[in-house]
Order: sequence, then C-alpha cells, then structure tokens
Amino acid sequence: MRPSRPGCRIMAQKTFLQRHAIVERSPTVLLGLSLAVVSVGGIVEIAPLFYLENTIEDVEGVRPYSPLELAGRDIYVREGCYVCHSQMIRPMRDEVERYGHYSLAAESKYDHPFQWGSKRTGPDLARVGGRYSDAWHVDHFTDPQAVVPESVMPKYGFLLDTPLDAERIADVLETHRFVGVPYTDEMIEAAAVDVRVQAEPDGDWEQMLERYPGAVVSNFDGRAELTEMDALIAYMQVLGTLIDFSTFTPDDSR
Ligand code: HEC
Repeated sequence: MRPSRPGCRIMAQKTFLQRHAIVERSPTVLLGLSLAVVSVGGIVEIAPLFYLENTIEDVEGVRPYSPLELAGRDIYVREGCYVCHSQMIRPMRDEVERYGHYSLAAESKYDHPFQWGSKRTGPDLARVGGRYSDAWHVDHFTDPQAVVPESVMPKYGFLLDTPLDAERIADVLETHRFVGVPYTDEMIEAAAVDVRVQAEPDGDWEQMLERYPGAVVSNFDGRAELTEMDALIAYMQVLGTLIDFSTFTPDDSR
C-alpha cells in the first residue's frame, strides 16, 4: 500500500484554481471558451435539422394565400395588427379550449414574414376564420367599441373608403414565389383577375376557387368597389380554416 500524501490533493486544487484565474482574468480567453461551450448546445440543437428530410410536416389543405387574402395580409402587417394580436395557439389546455386546435407549423409555412406575434392585447386570431360574419367584421373594424364596449382596439373605418391598390398583385405573388411559396405561372398570370373575382359573388370565380380551394367568395364589405376592407376581411375569413381537424392526425413517426 502506498502511503497517503494529504498535501498532494491540496496542491493539485491550488494549481487548478490558479489556472482558472487565467481564464477569469482574460476577457478574450473567457469569451473564447464560453463560445466553445455554448456552441456545443447550438450544434446539438441545430445540426440534426440539416439531416431531417422535412422539418415541417405537410398537412392536407394548406395552400398559398389567394391574391385577395395576400393583399389583406399585407394590410394586416402595414396596420401593425400583430402588435396586439398573435396567430399561434399553443398546445395548452386553456388555449385549445378557447381558440381551437393548437397551431401546426404547416399552417404558417407560406407566411412571409410569419405572424405568430409576441403580444396578446387582443385575442389570438389563428382560427378567427368563419367565426364571425363579414358584416360583423365591417362593424367591428369601423367601430370596435360599438361591438365590444370595453375594447381598446383602434378604429379602421378608413379601410372602407380606401380602394384596394391591386395593380402590383402579380409582382407580390412573384416575390413570394422567390422566397419559396409554390405559386405557379398560371396563378401569377391570373392574379389581377383573381384578386377581384373573390369579392364578386356574381362573377366568374370558379377557376379562382380551383386554384385556391377553400377561399371565401363574398362581397365582404357590401360595397361595389374593391376596398382594403374587402381584402382584410378575406384574410380574416381564411385564417385557420384550411385544415379539416376532424380528420387530422399528427404524424408521430418521427
Ligand atoms: C391596440 C391593440 C389592437 C390593435 C392594434 C388591433 N386590435 Fe384587434 N382587438 C384588440 C382587442 C383588445 C380585441 C378584443 C375586443 C374586441 O373584440 O374589440 C380585439 C379583437 C379583434 C378581433 C375579434 C377577435 C375575436 O376572436 O373576437 C379581430 C378579428 C381583430 N381584433 C382584428 C384586428 C385587425 C385585423 C387589426 C389590424 C387592422 C387589429 N385587430 C388591431 C386589440 C387590438
């Protein structure tokens, strides 16, 4: 048996502490080593994503926005609706009971930029489509306090009097195709027509509906002219309506 040498451990600890002092006293070394440690976590989380074939599960029913919905979405972004409204239902019981099925990644895969939001002054809008009539939306946007007296939502009545500027809608679709939304040549060519017929229930909207199944055809604001109100309500009415959750089962195989 070797004789024990109690002084030896204390010595080792001391030199370890002394070496550690080098790290703590030099910001550059500390930063370098911190980055090395943090990047281990980063690699563990990020690297597998490059090897997954698909990080977003495809779900039946999800399609690119129709030109009118897309125009409405641009108004939503322009007016900063996302400052008060989120569009992401979390898988917690209180959320699911209030808003419906939790949001799936696929539901925002054609959103550039996404509208998940980080603040809920008003309710989540991810599944507001079909919840209210078009006329309710017109009344509510024109004067939210007339519908919900305690509401702090601003009035957006001017949208009713603002004709929709849809001149560049084909370019908007093309830009979205550039960032990965699968708009076809046919969709882009027809965009200038499609953006109008969606708000004309008496018009020839059948082909538009073939291109964008599930789009709501309606004279949203009740006025003859195509307005920004039409576009915004068309967008509201499609939110969360594209997936049939009565038949949807999540793919747990991965
Ligand atoms: C200052 C914050 C604020 C802003 C900005 C805002 N809202 Fe709201 N919104 C609210 C609040 C609060 C409510 C709940 C009371 C009510 O219905 O008015 C609400 C309610 C709603 C509802 C009804 C939701 C439901 O499930 O009952 C819709 C739809 C809506 N907002 C759409 C919009 C859109 C579109 C915009 C942008 C043009 C917008 N909001 C901007 C605060 C805001």
